[in-house]
Amino acid sequence: MLNLSGKVAVVTGASRGIGEASARALDGCGAQVVLSGRTVSDLERVAADLTNTPLVIPCDLSESGAGTHLAGSVLDQVGGIDVLVNNAGIPMRRLPEKLTEEEIDLVFAVNVRSLLTLSIGLAPSMKERGGGSIINVSSVAGVRGPGARVAYAGTKGAVDAMTRALASDWGPDGVRVNSIAPGLIATAIWEESRNTVPGLIEDMEGQIALKRWGYGDDIADVVVFFASDASRYVTGETLVVDGGLARVTASAQPQVLPELLE
Ligand SMILES: NC(=O)c1ccc[n+]([C@@H]2O[C@H](COP(=O)([O-])OP(=O)(O)OC[C@H]3O[C@@H](n4cnc5c(N)ncnc54)[C@H](OP(=O)(O)O)[C@@H]3O)[C@@H](O)[C@H]2O)c1
Repeated sequence: MLNLSGKVAVVTGASRGIGEASARALDGCGAQVVLSGRTVSDLERVAADLTNTPLVIPCDLSESGAGTHLAGSVLDQVGGIDVLVNNAGIPMRRLPEKLTEEEIDLVFAVNVRSLLTLSIGLAPSMKERGGGSIINVSSVAGVRGPGARVAYAGTKGAVDAMTRALASDWGPDGVRVNSIAPGLIATAIWEESRNTVPGLIEDMEGQIALKRWGYGDDIADVVVFFASDASRYVTGETLVVDGGLARVTASAQPQVLPELLE
């Protein structure tokens, strides 16, 4: 198991899904975890299971100034940090013609603006400690061209672009910045569709090379890799973690005429 003893890690969106799994995995490797999100009861439920004096700091990242404010609260309470997991995010499934300006502002406020301002607020404390690791959770939506998700895809493409730019800015100070682009992960984001759309689960599975949806743990293990020294020479990267969805043409059928197969 990778060792994160003595490290302090902030996880946004830690109340459920990928963020909850990441908080649990980081704690399991010895890190002290600061959990953030809007729903205090959910954050406290997760924190109650953690062992390395976890801390809960609630925050609504859709609000103007929230990322900077959260960074200040974190530094007031723990002094400095080593790992930041920018995981909080919201979906936005809409045809382009139906999108309102308010919806575009909201998804960019949570998925992009706060991610950047929180990173800017916390990076100096990483530099003071000799370096650190920022892990941004983007999406395969930023790599592919998903239908009816233009605003969401735009935010996730922006996250990957900012990942590379910040890696350039902060690399000389030992701060690594990487992103993880998850594929189809069975969390609350998908719950309603999975329960109500007939055939959706199987149809999606059919598009994945490994033939299964992902779970929070599948992403959390990669978060731990990026948080640890095992990835010490990796920065500015986006790692697609999707079981072979975005970049693998998965099919049970041969893609060429059978007589051409050897
Ligand atoms: N699940 C997937 O298939 C998938 C695929 C690709 C990328 N992702 C990305 O992975 C990340 C986590 O997604 P998930 O699937 O784990 O979703 P989830 O279960 O809905 O969790 C989202 C988390 O973000 C927090 N959050 C939402 N709005 C917030 C706000 N305004 N301020 C602060 N926190 C807020 C939520 O907590 P509160 O509601 O308590 O605030 C929750 O902890 C997101 O960035 C998502 O875009 C997910």
